[in-house]
Amino acid sequence: MKRSITVLGTGRMGSALARALLHAGHRTTVWNRTIQKAEPLAALGATVAPSVLEAVNAAEIIIVNVSDYQATAAIMRNDAIASAVRGKLIVELTSGTPHGAREAAEFWAEHGASYLDGAIMATPDFIGTDAGTILVSGSSQAFDANEDMFRALGGNVQHIGEESGRANALDSALLALMWGALFGTLHAIAVCQAEEIDLGELAQQWNATAPVVEGLVADLIKRTNAGRFASDDETLSSISAHYGAFQHLLELMEAREIDRSVVLGYDAIFQRAIAAGQLHEDFAALSQFLGKSA
Ligand SMILES: NC(=O)c1ccc[n+]([C@@H]2O[C@H](COP(=O)([O-])OP(=O)(O)OC[C@H]3O[C@@H](n4cnc5c(N)ncnc54)[C@H](OP(=O)(O)O)[C@@H]3O)[C@@H](O)[C@H]2O)c1
Repeated sequence: MKRSITVLGTGRMGSALARALLHAGHRTTVWNRTIQKAEPLAALGATVAPSVLEAVNAAEIIIVNVSDYQATAAIMRNDAIASAVRGKLIVELTSGTPHGAREAAEFWAEHGASYLDGAIMATPDFIGTDAGTILVSGSSQAFDANEDMFRALGGNVQHIGEESGRANALDSALLALMWGALFGTLHAIAVCQAEEIDLGELAQQWNATAPVVEGLVADLIKRTNAGRFASDDETLSSISAHYGAFQHLLELMEAREIDRSVVLGYDAIFQRAIAAGQLHEDFAALSQFLGKSA
């Protein structure tokens, strides 16, 4: 079914969302604070609205993709928009926090609008492709009724629960994992540079090591989920095995005057587990030492 859809915000991501909707044949209206950034979409068939209110009035589904929830509030939270969205569906695809999504869901429910909150797990070039992933939380009824629109945005758009904060919560969890890898890479680069190892060699050896790390990540999640913290026959590595090698890294970084602020945070987690007598347990036992009770 072809729909009337509005996209508020046509930065890098919002433009990609609008292009995917146009490609799928949806009647698409766009608005952007800096109107020049919306104009190229007119050549693809979009209607460029001169104001947020006109953009909201033009469609039954309002997709929002601006920089953050403060920007969404700046453009949406006024009396005129609040009455214009009554009976419509707002799909917030701006990145935010779980509590921000919950608060927005309540706010728009009070104003008679349906609300879905999505986390885009992709760069703009993935939008509209089979590999485009967006996690969506909120009313499954609203999601199911508009599944074809979501499919146009990406082949891997998933409804992950009724509770509005879930998409942003899972987004933050996956970003934590990603930044662990990216900041880890920065440390690896610093070590190689200090020790005069060519970065091409780092890249080559990482290709060989990556499957091992992927296995460790999967095992850590699986064992934590099962609460299997004690070392057993299936343990891949204990805390003590990691801790020994980790001390070598700390020593090398100190000797080479590489910033240790991040890795000393890792050391603090090791120390808490060791103080609790868990040195010889599975590495997954460390997951008990990050929560507020740690
Ligand atoms: N790019 C990615 O790879 C990616 C991936 C996943 C999620 N996201 C999320 O998608 C969202 C947009 O990212 P982007 O890459 O498209 O960023 P971007 O290119 O910098 O675009 C930001 C957009 O927000 C608008 N904006 C900012 N402050 C505003 C305000 N106070 N009032 C009205 N409009 C305002 C900008 O309008 P102007 O043009 O007028 O400045 C622009 O349309 C972010 O929440 C981001 O975290 C992006």
